[in-house]
Amino acid sequence: MSKLRVQSFAMSIDGYGAGPHQDLQHPLGVNGPELMEWFFNTRVWRRMHGQADGEVGIDNSMAERGFAGIGAWILGRNMFGPVRGPWPDDSWKGWWGDEPPYHTPVFVLTHHARAPLKMAGGTEFRFVTAGIHAALEQATAAAGGGDVRLGGGVATIRQYLQAALVDELHLAIRPVLLGSGEQLLQGLDLRALGYACVEHVAGERATHVVLRKR
Ligand SMILES: NC(=O)c1ccc[n+]([C@@H]2O[C@H](COP(=O)([O-])OP(=O)(O)OC[C@H]3O[C@@H](n4cnc5c(N)ncnc54)[C@H](OP(=O)(O)O)[C@@H]3O)[C@@H](O)[C@H]2O)c1
Repeated sequence: MSKLRVQSFAMSIDGYGAGPHQDLQHPLGVNGPELMEWFFNTRVWRRMHGQADGEVGIDNSMAERGFAGIGAWILGRNMFGPVRGPWPDDSWKGWWGDEPPYHTPVFVLTHHARAPLKMAGGTEFRFVTAGIHAALEQATAAAGGGDVRLGGGVATIRQYLQAALVDELHLAIRPVLLGSGEQLLQGLDLRALGYACVEHVAGERATHVVLRKR
């Protein structure tokens, strides 16, 4: 059965999954890139950016796992871009250039309808205004038996956790303090929702923790 998986989601020690004041210059919010520093040296990341090198340790193997068996993605609108409110036009096509790294259908949750957007390399952004359950149904159907990866951001993951729809949550916990931004787990009783830690391993630049729904 198709699973809903959060993979490689970086969190600071103080619980933030993004910094404050997201905008065009700060896609991850102010200081947000400190969350992702575990990922930037991996072979997975370097290959995504056309480089043949990169480290192949624990961080890399955890990142690799996140792409295995994925048939579709779900994103929140803020992860897709900095545009807020009604779309002024169709010019914003994501942060990732002409060929985004998804290579599958990607369902973007938003309150503002927009026509689907086909990109090079098999990525198609489809905008879903009917809520998290509809997005999951559509993504599961599109995944063709594969799993659905819940890419983020924070508000989107929180909704799926609160509804206990996430089957597996891999957090890359970074040894940094953000101080402010988007809190990932605050106010969510994951234990009562049925989650437990099934794996933890220290990587080169992050500690990896996997939670699974019982
Ligand atoms: N730490 C990591 O590894 C990681 C990974 C990915 C992303 N991020 C970061 O996370 C940040 C984005 O997270 P975020 O919490 O600000 O926002 P988000 O979850 O990406 O998007 C939230 C927005 O999506 C739309 N949305 C969400 N749920 C909806 C629903 N049920 N129905 C309709 N629309 C819905 C709404 O947009 P509208 O109302 O405007 O349509 C909402 O404001 C970015 O800085 C990104 O870089 C971090």
